[in-house]
Amino acid sequence: MRILFLNGPNLNLLGQREPAVYGSLSLKEIETRLRERAKERGITLDFRQSNSEGELVTWIQQAKPEFAAIVLNAAAYTHTSIALRDAISAVAIPTIEIHLSNIHAREAFRNESLIAAVCCGQISGFGAHSYILGLDAAVNVIESSKNR
Ligand code: DQA
Repeated sequence: MRILFLNGPNLNLLGQREPAVYGSLSLKEIETRLRERAKERGITLDFRQSNSEGELVTWIQQAKPEFAAIVLNAAAYTHTSIALRDAISAVAIPTIEIHLSNIHAREAFRNESLIAAVCCGQISGFGAHSYILGLDAAVNVIESSKNR
């Protein structure tokens, strides 16, 4: 089982960026923890970050047939990107939306997610653990679709 993790703009700065909001781990450290969990579960991960909306759209478009699910922290594009939403709808790969912070407890402009309606669900507010929960949710969605 292969799962694609995509990270949007400014997440390359995790660790230095507003640690009170996003925690002190770097994206690399989050990836390392996630890979340990994935290994235990026999899952192969691809883990990518881009500051470019277009690159994220291209990666979503190319995800099929290699990946069974996408776990997406679209960062600020969550709140602005119809292009990302359309890409998720177009490829129809189960996609889990994740955030480190609780976007519903922050500024009003972060309360809305343009991608939520085309994702299987949203995980928001558990810090780096949101990535582990995203992995578990993706595996669950894939396995339950097999048993249907
Ligand atoms: C974020 C929340 C977004 O509102 C913000 O723009 C980010 C990170 C999170 O993981 O909490 O860059 O997606």
